[in-house]
Amino acid sequence: MAPQGNKNQLFLGLFIHSTSLGELQYLHNTAICVEKSGKIVAVEQKCDQKKAEDTIYPKLGWKADDVVVTTTKDGQFFFPGFIDTHIHAPQYPNVGIFGKSTLLDWLNTYTFPMEASLSSLPKARRVYTRCVRRALAHGTTTATYYATIHVPSTNLLADLCLSMGQRAFIGRVCMDAMGPDYYLDESAAQSLIATQQTIDHIHKIDPGYTLVSPILTPRFAPSCSRKAMTSLGKLHEKTGIPIQTHISENVDELKLVKDTFPEFPHYTGVYDAHGLLGTKTILAHAIHLSDEEADLIAKRGAGVSHCPCSNSALTSGEARVRWLLDKGIGVGLGTDVSGGYSSSVLEAARQAALVSNHLVMPKKGNEYNETNGNKTIQKAKGTERARLSVEEVLHLATRGGASIVGLVDRIGGFEVGMEWDAQLIGLGLVDETPEEDDTLDRGNVDIFGWEKWEERVAKWVFNGDDRNVRKVWVRGRLVHERI
Ligand code: GUN
Ligand code: FE
Repeated sequence: MAPQGNKNQLFLGLFIHSTSLGELQYLHNTAICVEKSGKIVAVEQKCDQKKAEDTIYPKLGWKADDVVVTTTKDGQFFFPGFIDTHIHAPQYPNVGIFGKSTLLDWLNTYTFPMEASLSSLPKARRVYTRCVRRALAHGTTTATYYATIHVPSTNLLADLCLSMGQRAFIGRVCMDAMGPDYYLDESAAQSLIATQQTIDHIHKIDPGYTLVSPILTPRFAPSCSRKAMTSLGKLHEKTGIPIQTHISENVDELKLVKDTFPEFPHYTGVYDAHGLLGTKTILAHAIHLSDEEADLIAKRGAGVSHCPCSNSALTSGEARVRWLLDKGIGVGLGTDVSGGYSSSVLEAARQAALVSNHLVMPKKGNEYNETNGNKTIQKAKGTERARLSVEEVLHLATRGGASIVGLVDRIGGFEVGMEWDAQLIGLGLVDETPEEDDTLDRGNVDIFGWEKWEERVAKWVFNGDDRNVRKVWVRGRLVHERI
């Protein structure tokens, strides 16, 4: 791979990014200059290479022969890198394997045995290397990882993200209560010591947390003692290190939380009482919340990672994303590998759109008839606004994710001052007179030429995959290339 990232770079052509929920901006014939540090230092519309060299380089003190230039070809565009706000790296070998299980039996049948096996460092290296590579190939430039309870293999995941160049939050999983004997922290005290060991390691390998940062990871309330949660809450208060956990994913889980923590008003109240609910908390799932809980989450400023692939695979339910957004809660997308069957955030975006469609379909009990002239249409009560557009799910995949991981000023879009975390997407243009059959290697998106750019993006969202991800950069460094 070309040694970029230590050179100034010029990107030319079409850039597409989200400017607000529901709005994509198309910057045609644009030039973006990225300095050695990976920061965007100029964005100039109606600008080609010559104009950039004549008018922008002198201001930046750049010399033309010392700049790496990347230009979009026909059918290509730059898009901000995806942000996966919830992924379990050790579960990667299990993607697609969930049978007809639901959350609690899925954890015991598939998940805990696989996670426990990653105490082996050679196995962890093999699994984590492939997991990070695959995520980069899907255009994921930032991932918020759960690892396992083991310190050495969790630290290895941090090392691998740093060396492969992926921006990452790394969480050593805390679980000292519910879990199998073979996969459990010894005590709340030991759980805290192990958590600190991973924090210390990450601090050593990336002192400024420029690429890799620690994240406190109480697995979910049922698997954490009150003592463990209290100590993590205190550690968060002292250090400001962010927190990730699961909330309100499955109805049996809700019952378990109610039985285990009868003194709290609800699931959200358990985290709140232990100092785990704040502006730096990422809550995965958030499907079955009450209004009162969502209002509390909004008041504390915590974010939600929406994981539609997982929620459908494990029949957990449909998170009401519009309802969360209307409450003022920040929402990003998570693949939740391997509750989710794919580590592609594009797949998560696609499923977020489809799951939102399910919310507006009439179901027994919520249907009503709307009459228009002599036509009667059956609709679902009070849910029309629930549908998420292509533009909206792409917002969640980029800016939405950036906001809930606390990086909204640095990643998720193409403004001056932001860091160049980006992917070059290529869609397949169908020749007017195709001579050879290149169906197999061109990818799954066929563009015939008549499509408006909005339509091309929709075709990408619903048909695209990693074959469309030609190049990926993080902080200006080229970290993946598809030749
Ligand atoms: N709740 C507790 N642990 C897990 C996990 O590993 N995945 C999911 N989806 N939910 C959880
Ligand atoms: Fe999860």
